[in-house]
Amino acid sequence: MASGDPQRIRHPLPPARWPSRDEAAAARWFSPIQIGQNLTARERTWVPAMVPWRATDDGLVTPEVLDWYARFAEGQPGVLVVEATGIRDVASGPLLRIGDDRFIPGLRRLVDTVRERSQGRTRLFIQVIDFVAVRRRPEPEKFFGRYLAVTDSLRAQIALGLDDRRWLGASDSEVREFLVGADRVTIETVLNDRELEALDYGYRERVWDTHLDHIRELPRVLPALFAEAAWRAREAGFDGVELHYAHAYTMASFLSRLNTRTDGYGGPREHRVRLPLETLAAVRERVGGDYVVGIRYLGDDVVEGGSGLDDAVWFGLRFAEGGVDYLSVSKGGRFEDAKQPKIGEAVYPYTGRSGYECMPTVISDERGPFGRNVPLAASIRRALRDGGWSTPVVTSGGITTFDQAEAILRNGEADCVAAARQTLADPDWFRKIRLGYGAQVRRCEFTNYCEGLDQRHKQVTCKLWDRQVDPADPTLRLASDGRRRLSAPGWSPPGEDAGARVV
Ligand SMILES: Cc1cc2nc3c(=O)[nH]c(=O)nc-3n(C[C@H](O)[C@H](O)[C@H](O)COP(=O)(O)O)c2cc1C
Ligand code: SF4
Repeated sequence: MASGDPQRIRHPLPPARWPSRDEAAAARWFSPIQIGQNLTARERTWVPAMVPWRATDDGLVTPEVLDWYARFAEGQPGVLVVEATGIRDVASGPLLRIGDDRFIPGLRRLVDTVRERSQGRTRLFIQVIDFVAVRRRPEPEKFFGRYLAVTDSLRAQIALGLDDRRWLGASDSEVREFLVGADRVTIETVLNDRELEALDYGYRERVWDTHLDHIRELPRVLPALFAEAAWRAREAGFDGVELHYAHAYTMASFLSRLNTRTDGYGGPREHRVRLPLETLAAVRERVGGDYVVGIRYLGDDVVEGGSGLDDAVWFGLRFAEGGVDYLSVSKGGRFEDAKQPKIGEAVYPYTGRSGYECMPTVISDERGPFGRNVPLAASIRRALRDGGWSTPVVTSGGITTFDQAEAILRNGEADCVAAARQTLADPDWFRKIRLGYGAQVRRCEFTNYCEGLDQRHKQVTCKLWDRQVDPADPTLRLASDGRRRLSAPGWSPPGEDAGARVV
């Protein structure tokens, strides 16, 4: 829960009752679902996108990326969504990329690995993302000495603040020198809000910064970039592509009520949804009607002035009309309310209240973290069905037991039930439940150690894995810091040999 929140109640994990093999076989969660024109997932179990920070700095698939997805595949979920993968051919750290054909062979290996390890039971989608620039919080000396643009309006602010017109003609270096030595009150008086934010949080672009050429041009370039990325996903053999319209990134920001663009792509809902719809249409055109195209988006921005559920319901209907094959509903995860980062670190969108709502922990308000976001998916689904659309809706957020998932499906609140952190804690949990070994599930504690690693762009692992380490095991691999196991401990049904499985 974001610091400063009035309620900090520690919630116990919901008690788990695990089904027998027969009960699981008859369960809705383990029943098939059609997604799009041609694809059937064997189950409604779903692993949503999770970035593990394991690609090369050039965005290529590594053996560690293959291990990460192999391990999820061994649990044989109905659908596994590969992490947010960049659609541009620009350096973005160890995030996967799909912005050029040279990325296809590595991604093809990833597809083959998942097919083999899931024994063909898992459908594999890839999430594709665009984001705008976010820089680290600078040293104040560097900020004033180099990054801050010295403009006439800044000179005017200083002249006004000091009541000294000579500052109107001050040189660049005089202004910089003055600011380096200035006290906080003066700095707050002379910098505008965006400059102050760049100093305190790091420079961050908005999609409504239309004074910047590359931001103004986004509606011209993004549909083709997403379409080419989707085409490459198909070439690589993925079963579908998921357009990342959620959280802190470009498309969610176009959809947000905060988007004030005046060029027909911001302001009223009809304009905010325009680029996401034009992009969906371009993707559909490029990959054809028979290829699965899904959208992950926000049921609620959870930031002041942002979009709410009424917007999300309306967007959901427009996406359905636009031919989307499924909607995966998330919540929050925005930059606007993120905590101030340390100097040298970048602002992280999962630290404020909206971040809490995206990945809720056991320290919560009265409602607690479990299934907390289900009502958003339920409202969107209801509106779709009322409108005559059968588009499947996926929910996620604090799902950790079989009974929770079954109740969501039985109540018609969603069509597929996703679990990110519970599946990270125990990638075999779906298979364990299906085979009647639910009592062996390693349960996520929802305290977000994994999210802390994500925040620092370190290889993501689960703290529970380290409770099971046999140093004599020759297949044991450790994270690059040498202190954590890189993959979950292996599992096979009692009586079966784990064989040469990667652990
Ligand atoms: C380490 C980590 C990385 C994540 N990366 C992504 C991502 O790439 N794309 C995305 O849409 N959501 C991402 N999420 C959010 C999850 O998909 C999910 O929505 C969230 O964790 C809530 O579900 P849960 O309670 O089952 O964990 C990430 C979550 C975690 C813990
Ligand atoms: S690190 Fe904690 S929150 Fe993350 S998956 Fe493991 S138990 Fe769950």
